Amino acid sequence: MTTKLTIRRPDDWHVHLRDGAMLQGVAQFTARQFARAIVMPNLSPPVTSIEACIAYRNRIMAALPEGSAFTPLMTCYLTDRTDPAEVRRGFTEGVFTAAKLYPAGATTNSDGGVTDVANIRAVLETMAEVGMVLCVHGEVTSAEIDIFDREAVFIEQVLAPLLKDQPGLKVVFEHITTQDAVEFVEAAPANVAATVTPQHLHINRNAMLVGGMRPHAYCLPVAKREKHRLALRAAATRGSTKFFLGTDSAPHTRETKESACGCAGIFNAPFALESYLAVFEAESALDRFEGFASLHGPAFYGLPVNESTITLEKRNCTVPATIMANGEYVVPFHAGETLGWTLVD
Ligand code: DOR
Ligand code: ZN
Repeated sequence: MTTKLTIRRPDDWHVHLRDGAMLQGVAQFTARQFARAIVMPNLSPPVTSIEACIAYRNRIMAALPEGSAFTPLMTCYLTDRTDPAEVRRGFTEGVFTAAKLYPAGATTNSDGGVTDVANIRAVLETMAEVGMVLCVHGEVTSAEIDIFDREAVFIEQVLAPLLKDQPGLKVVFEHITTQDAVEFVEAAPANVAATVTPQHLHINRNAMLVGGMRPHAYCLPVAKREKHRLALRAAATRGSTKFFLGTDSAPHTRETKESACGCAGIFNAPFALESYLAVFEAESALDRFEGFASLHGPAFYGLPVNESTITLEKRNCTVPATIMANGEYVVPFHAGETLGWTLVD
Protein backbone atom coordinates (compact mmCIF):
# COMPACT_ATOMS: atom_id res chain seq x y z
CA MET A 1 0.00 0.00 0.00
CA THR A 2 1.28 3.46 -0.86
CA THR A 3 1.67 5.50 2.30
CA LYS A 4 3.68 8.40 0.96
CA LEU A 5 3.44 10.27 -2.30
CA THR A 6 6.08 12.72 -3.52
CA ILE A 7 5.27 14.61 -6.69
CA ARG A 8 6.34 17.78 -8.45
CA ARG A 9 4.72 20.73 -6.74
CA PRO A 10 1.23 21.22 -8.25
CA ASP A 11 -0.32 24.38 -9.65
CA ASP A 12 -3.91 25.57 -9.32
CA TRP A 13 -5.20 26.52 -12.76
CA HIS A 14 -8.25 28.43 -11.41
CA VAL A 15 -8.53 30.24 -8.09
CA HIS A 16 -10.22 33.26 -6.56
CA LEU A 17 -7.79 35.01 -4.24
CA ARG A 18 -10.08 38.03 -3.71
CA ASP A 19 -8.77 41.38 -2.55
CA GLY A 20 -8.40 43.46 0.60
CA ALA A 21 -8.98 41.76 3.93
CA MET A 22 -10.07 38.44 2.40
CA LEU A 23 -6.94 38.27 0.22
CA GLN A 24 -4.84 38.81 3.34
CA GLY A 25 -6.68 35.96 5.00
CA VAL A 26 -6.67 33.34 2.23
CA ALA A 27 -3.52 33.81 0.11
CA GLN A 28 -1.44 31.71 2.51
CA PHE A 29 -3.57 28.59 1.88
CA THR A 30 -3.07 28.55 -1.88
CA ALA A 31 0.59 29.50 -1.50
CA ARG A 32 1.14 26.55 0.85
CA GLN A 33 -0.25 23.97 -1.56
CA PHE A 34 0.68 25.29 -4.98
CA ALA A 35 3.66 26.78 -6.82
CA ARG A 36 1.53 28.87 -9.18
CA ALA A 37 -2.11 29.66 -9.71
CA ILE A 38 -4.23 31.21 -12.41
CA VAL A 39 -5.89 34.04 -10.49
CA MET A 40 -9.42 35.01 -11.45
CA PRO A 41 -10.02 38.69 -12.25
CA ASN A 42 -13.63 38.98 -10.98
CA LEU A 43 -12.96 41.67 -8.42
CA SER A 44 -15.21 44.65 -8.00
CA PRO A 45 -14.34 46.48 -10.22
CA PRO A 46 -12.95 43.67 -12.39
CA VAL A 47 -9.36 43.49 -13.59
CA THR A 48 -9.73 44.69 -17.17
CA SER A 49 -6.46 46.53 -17.83
CA ILE A 50 -2.72 45.95 -17.63
CA GLU A 51 -2.42 48.67 -15.03
CA ALA A 52 -5.12 47.20 -12.76
CA CYS A 53 -3.59 43.77 -13.19
CA ILE A 54 -0.10 44.84 -12.16
CA ALA A 55 -1.55 46.59 -9.11
CA TYR A 56 -3.55 43.47 -8.18
CA ARG A 57 -0.52 41.22 -8.62
CA ASN A 58 1.44 43.50 -6.29
CA ARG A 59 -1.31 43.27 -3.66
CA ILE A 60 -1.21 39.48 -3.93
CA MET A 61 2.57 39.41 -3.55
CA ALA A 62 2.29 41.64 -0.49
CA ALA A 63 -0.29 39.27 1.06
CA LEU A 64 1.94 36.18 0.79
CA PRO A 65 3.72 34.81 3.85
CA GLU A 66 7.41 35.75 4.28
CA GLY A 67 9.63 33.67 2.05
CA SER A 68 6.81 32.23 -0.06
CA ALA A 69 7.88 31.12 -3.55
CA PHE A 70 4.32 31.26 -4.89
CA THR A 71 3.76 32.92 -8.28
CA PRO A 72 0.34 34.32 -9.20
CA LEU A 73 -0.46 34.00 -12.91
CA MET A 74 -2.78 36.83 -13.78
CA THR A 75 -5.81 37.01 -16.04
CA CYS A 76 -7.61 39.75 -17.94
CA TYR A 77 -11.39 40.05 -17.46
CA LEU A 78 -12.98 40.36 -20.89
CA THR A 79 -15.83 42.76 -21.52
CA ASP A 80 -17.72 43.80 -24.64
CA ARG A 81 -15.29 46.69 -24.94
CA THR A 82 -11.94 44.96 -24.36
CA ASP A 83 -9.26 46.36 -26.65
CA PRO A 84 -7.36 43.62 -28.51
CA ALA A 85 -4.20 45.76 -28.38
CA GLU A 86 -4.34 45.85 -24.56
CA VAL A 87 -4.69 42.06 -24.40
CA ARG A 88 -1.82 41.56 -26.83
CA ARG A 89 0.47 43.93 -24.97
CA GLY A 90 -0.47 42.48 -21.56
CA PHE A 91 0.37 39.00 -22.79
CA THR A 92 3.60 39.85 -24.60
CA GLU A 93 4.82 41.88 -21.60
CA GLY A 94 4.15 38.93 -19.29
CA VAL A 95 1.38 40.57 -17.25
CA PHE A 96 -1.57 38.48 -18.48
CA THR A 97 -1.11 34.72 -18.65
CA ALA A 98 -4.68 34.21 -19.88
CA ALA A 99 -7.96 36.04 -20.42
CA LYS A 100 -11.25 35.14 -18.81
CA LEU A 101 -14.61 34.97 -20.51
CA TYR A 102 -17.49 35.43 -18.10
CA PRO A 103 -20.84 35.47 -19.85
CA ALA A 104 -22.47 38.60 -18.38
CA GLY A 105 -24.50 37.69 -15.29
CA ALA A 106 -23.25 34.10 -15.00
CA THR A 107 -21.74 34.35 -11.52
CA THR A 108 -20.07 36.50 -8.83
CA ASN A 109 -19.02 39.91 -10.23
CA SER A 110 -19.75 38.95 -13.81
CA ASP A 111 -22.12 41.82 -14.59
CA GLY A 112 -19.42 43.50 -16.64
CA GLY A 113 -18.76 40.32 -18.59
CA VAL A 114 -19.38 39.58 -22.24
CA THR A 115 -22.97 39.84 -23.48
CA ASP A 116 -22.25 38.16 -26.83
CA VAL A 117 -18.99 36.54 -27.94
CA ALA A 118 -19.41 38.27 -31.29
CA ASN A 119 -18.36 41.42 -29.39
CA ILE A 120 -14.93 39.98 -28.57
CA ARG A 121 -14.19 38.39 -31.91
CA ALA A 122 -11.17 40.62 -32.59
CA VAL A 123 -9.81 39.88 -29.10
CA LEU A 124 -10.13 36.13 -29.63
CA GLU A 125 -8.43 36.41 -33.01
CA THR A 126 -5.52 38.24 -31.39
CA MET A 127 -5.30 35.65 -28.62
CA ALA A 128 -5.21 32.79 -31.11
CA GLU A 129 -2.47 34.60 -33.01
CA VAL A 130 -0.22 35.06 -29.95
CA GLY A 131 -1.06 31.68 -28.36
CA MET A 132 -2.82 33.07 -25.29
CA VAL A 133 -5.23 30.86 -23.35
CA LEU A 134 -8.92 31.73 -23.05
CA CYS A 135 -10.41 30.58 -19.73
CA VAL A 136 -14.14 30.08 -20.08
CA HIS A 137 -16.93 30.09 -17.54
CA GLY A 138 -19.16 27.78 -19.54
CA GLU A 139 -22.75 28.61 -18.69
CA VAL A 140 -25.44 30.40 -20.65
CA THR A 141 -27.34 32.97 -18.66
CA SER A 142 -30.74 33.19 -20.37
CA ALA A 143 -33.54 33.16 -17.83
CA GLU A 144 -35.45 30.47 -19.71
CA ILE A 145 -32.61 27.91 -19.47
CA ASP A 146 -32.76 25.72 -16.39
CA ILE A 147 -29.74 26.18 -14.15
CA PHE A 148 -28.89 22.47 -14.36
CA ASP A 149 -28.79 22.68 -18.18
CA ARG A 150 -26.75 25.85 -18.52
CA GLU A 151 -23.41 24.17 -19.12
CA ALA A 152 -24.67 21.70 -21.72
CA VAL A 153 -26.53 24.46 -23.57
CA PHE A 154 -23.41 26.64 -23.47
CA ILE A 155 -21.45 23.98 -25.35
CA GLU A 156 -23.96 23.87 -28.13
CA GLN A 157 -24.82 27.57 -28.35
CA VAL A 158 -21.52 29.25 -27.54
CA LEU A 159 -18.43 27.04 -27.21
CA ALA A 160 -18.76 24.87 -30.29
CA PRO A 161 -19.47 27.85 -32.58
CA LEU A 162 -16.64 29.83 -30.94
CA LEU A 163 -14.14 27.05 -31.65
CA LYS A 164 -15.42 26.70 -35.16
CA ASP A 165 -14.77 30.39 -35.68
CA GLN A 166 -11.36 30.32 -33.92
CA PRO A 167 -10.09 26.78 -34.44
CA GLY A 168 -6.56 27.62 -33.28
CA LEU A 169 -7.53 29.29 -29.99
CA LYS A 170 -6.38 27.58 -26.80
CA VAL A 171 -9.44 27.20 -24.57
CA VAL A 172 -9.75 25.94 -21.01
CA PHE A 173 -13.32 24.93 -20.30
CA GLU A 174 -13.24 25.65 -16.61
CA HIS A 175 -14.72 23.82 -13.64
CA ILE A 176 -16.65 21.37 -15.81
CA THR A 177 -19.63 19.71 -14.16
CA THR A 178 -21.24 17.48 -16.77
CA GLN A 179 -20.71 14.35 -18.81
CA ASP A 180 -21.54 16.55 -21.82
CA ALA A 181 -18.50 18.72 -21.10
CA VAL A 182 -16.26 15.68 -20.60
CA GLU A 183 -17.34 14.26 -23.95
CA PHE A 184 -16.97 17.59 -25.71
CA VAL A 185 -13.43 18.13 -24.43
CA GLU A 186 -12.39 14.57 -25.19
CA ALA A 187 -13.62 14.86 -28.77
CA ALA A 188 -12.07 18.30 -29.31
CA PRO A 189 -8.56 18.86 -30.70
CA ALA A 190 -5.52 19.36 -28.47
CA ASN A 191 -6.10 23.11 -28.06
CA VAL A 192 -9.13 22.44 -25.83
CA ALA A 193 -8.75 21.28 -22.23
CA ALA A 194 -10.71 21.45 -18.97
CA THR A 195 -10.18 21.99 -15.27
CA VAL A 196 -12.00 19.97 -12.64
CA THR A 197 -12.66 21.12 -9.07
CA PRO A 198 -12.51 18.90 -5.98
CA GLN A 199 -16.14 19.60 -5.12
CA HIS A 200 -17.45 18.40 -8.46
CA LEU A 201 -15.52 15.15 -7.97
CA HIS A 202 -16.90 14.65 -4.45
CA ILE A 203 -20.49 15.86 -4.46
CA ASN A 204 -23.58 15.75 -6.59
CA ARG A 205 -26.59 18.04 -6.29
CA ASN A 206 -28.05 15.99 -3.44
CA ALA A 207 -25.30 17.37 -1.20
CA MET A 208 -26.84 20.78 -1.69
CA LEU A 209 -30.49 19.90 -1.30
CA VAL A 210 -31.15 16.67 0.61
CA GLY A 211 -32.03 16.95 4.30
CA GLY A 212 -32.00 20.74 4.19
CA MET A 213 -30.45 23.42 2.01
CA ARG A 214 -26.71 23.46 2.41
CA PRO A 215 -25.29 26.75 1.24
CA HIS A 216 -21.69 25.64 1.64
CA ALA A 217 -22.19 23.08 -1.13
CA TYR A 218 -23.45 25.78 -3.49
CA CYS A 219 -21.14 27.01 -6.21
CA LEU A 220 -21.44 27.85 -9.89
CA PRO A 221 -21.74 25.90 -12.03
CA VAL A 222 -23.87 23.98 -9.53
CA ALA A 223 -23.11 20.32 -8.88
CA LYS A 224 -25.22 18.11 -11.15
CA ARG A 225 -26.66 14.60 -10.84
CA GLU A 226 -24.60 11.55 -9.94
CA LYS A 227 -23.92 10.33 -13.49
CA HIS A 228 -22.13 13.58 -14.20
CA ARG A 229 -19.98 13.30 -11.09
CA LEU A 230 -18.96 9.81 -12.13
CA ALA A 231 -18.04 11.00 -15.63
CA LEU A 232 -15.87 13.74 -14.10
CA ARG A 233 -14.11 11.29 -11.80
CA ALA A 234 -13.35 9.00 -14.71
CA ALA A 235 -12.08 11.88 -16.84
CA ALA A 236 -9.84 13.35 -14.14
CA THR A 237 -8.29 10.05 -13.07
CA ARG A 238 -7.87 8.40 -16.47
CA GLY A 239 -4.54 10.04 -17.20
CA SER A 240 -5.77 12.18 -20.10
CA THR A 241 -3.66 15.30 -20.56
CA LYS A 242 -6.81 17.27 -21.39
CA PHE A 243 -7.95 17.41 -17.76
CA PHE A 244 -6.12 19.16 -14.97
CA LEU A 245 -6.41 20.67 -11.53
CA GLY A 246 -8.31 23.90 -10.98
CA THR A 247 -9.82 24.30 -7.54
CA ASP A 248 -12.16 27.24 -8.17
CA SER A 249 -11.62 27.95 -4.48
CA ALA A 250 -13.97 30.89 -3.95
CA PRO A 251 -14.13 32.15 -0.37
CA HIS A 252 -17.15 34.03 0.93
CA THR A 253 -17.70 34.83 4.59
CA ARG A 254 -19.93 32.47 6.53
CA GLU A 255 -22.44 35.27 6.86
CA THR A 256 -22.76 35.85 3.11
CA LYS A 257 -23.09 32.10 2.44
CA GLU A 258 -25.67 31.48 5.19
CA SER A 259 -28.10 34.04 3.90
CA ALA A 260 -31.50 34.34 2.19
CA CYS A 261 -29.55 34.91 -1.01
CA GLY A 262 -26.33 33.06 -0.37
CA CYS A 263 -23.22 33.66 -2.49
CA ALA A 264 -21.95 31.00 -4.87
CA GLY A 265 -18.54 29.56 -4.10
CA ILE A 266 -16.78 26.83 -2.18
CA PHE A 267 -13.61 27.58 -0.24
CA ASN A 268 -11.44 24.52 -0.78
CA ALA A 269 -7.93 26.00 -0.82
CA PRO A 270 -6.74 24.84 2.64
CA PHE A 271 -7.13 21.10 1.91
CA ALA A 272 -7.38 21.02 -1.87
CA LEU A 273 -4.66 18.44 -2.49
CA GLU A 274 -5.90 16.19 0.29
CA SER A 275 -9.38 16.42 -1.22
CA TYR A 276 -8.29 15.55 -4.75
CA LEU A 277 -6.07 12.76 -3.52
CA ALA A 278 -8.99 11.07 -1.77
CA VAL A 279 -10.64 10.80 -5.18
CA PHE A 280 -7.54 9.46 -6.94
CA GLU A 281 -7.08 6.89 -4.20
CA ALA A 282 -10.69 5.72 -4.39
CA GLU A 283 -10.34 5.39 -8.16
CA SER A 284 -7.06 3.41 -7.79
CA ALA A 285 -5.27 6.16 -9.69
CA LEU A 286 -2.62 7.44 -7.27
CA ASP A 287 -0.04 6.97 -10.02
CA ARG A 288 -1.96 9.45 -12.20
CA PHE A 289 -2.23 12.18 -9.62
CA GLU A 290 1.01 13.92 -10.58
CA GLY A 291 -0.12 14.24 -14.18
CA PHE A 292 -3.42 15.83 -13.20
CA ALA A 293 -1.96 18.07 -10.50
CA SER A 294 1.47 19.03 -11.81
CA LEU A 295 2.08 18.12 -15.45
CA HIS A 296 -0.93 18.50 -17.74
CA GLY A 297 -1.61 22.14 -16.82
CA PRO A 298 1.90 23.47 -17.56
CA ALA A 299 1.99 21.44 -20.78
CA PHE A 300 -1.25 23.03 -21.97
CA TYR A 301 -0.20 26.55 -21.01
CA GLY A 302 3.28 26.05 -22.50
CA LEU A 303 4.96 26.72 -19.16
CA PRO A 304 7.77 24.75 -17.49
CA VAL A 305 6.86 22.19 -14.84
CA ASN A 306 7.87 22.98 -11.28
CA GLU A 307 11.20 21.62 -10.10
CA SER A 308 10.36 21.53 -6.39
CA THR A 309 8.27 18.72 -4.90
CA ILE A 310 5.65 18.16 -2.23
CA THR A 311 4.94 15.10 -0.14
CA LEU A 312 1.59 13.79 1.02
CA GLU A 313 1.41 11.10 3.68
CA LYS A 314 -1.33 8.60 4.29
CA ARG A 315 -2.34 10.06 7.62
CA ASN A 316 -5.70 11.44 8.70
CA CYS A 317 -6.29 15.16 8.69
CA THR A 318 -9.42 16.72 10.10
CA VAL A 319 -10.80 19.76 8.34
CA PRO A 320 -11.93 22.41 10.83
CA ALA A 321 -15.58 23.51 10.94
CA THR A 322 -14.53 27.07 10.21
CA ILE A 323 -11.37 28.88 9.25
CA MET A 324 -10.59 32.36 10.45
CA ALA A 325 -9.52 34.42 7.46
CA ASN A 326 -8.20 37.71 8.74
CA GLY A 327 -11.05 38.27 11.21
CA GLU A 328 -13.88 36.68 9.18
CA TYR A 329 -15.13 33.12 9.49
CA VAL A 330 -15.13 31.09 6.29
CA VAL A 331 -16.49 27.55 6.14
CA PRO A 332 -14.12 25.30 4.17
CA PHE A 333 -15.05 22.44 1.86
CA HIS A 334 -15.18 19.15 3.87
CA ALA A 335 -15.78 21.14 7.09
CA GLY A 336 -15.68 18.75 10.04
CA GLU A 337 -14.70 15.75 7.88
CA THR A 338 -11.57 13.65 8.09
CA LEU A 339 -9.49 13.11 4.97
CA GLY A 340 -7.03 10.24 4.65
CA TRP A 341 -3.97 12.13 3.36
CA THR A 342 -2.00 15.00 4.80
CA LEU A 343 0.27 17.44 3.03
CA VAL A 344 3.59 17.43 4.84
CA ASP A 345 5.31 20.77 5.24
O1 DOR B 1 -19.12 29.42 -7.30
C1 DOR B 1 -18.50 30.29 -7.87
N1 DOR B 1 -17.93 31.30 -7.20
N2 DOR B 1 -18.41 30.24 -9.19
C2 DOR B 1 -17.87 31.23 -9.90
O2 DOR B 1 -17.85 31.14 -11.11
C3 DOR B 1 -17.38 32.46 -9.23
C4 DOR B 1 -17.03 32.19 -7.83
C5 DOR B 1 -16.86 33.46 -7.01
O3 DOR B 1 -16.12 34.33 -7.45
O4 DOR B 1 -17.43 33.55 -5.93
ZN1 ZN C 1 -14.17 30.47 -10.50
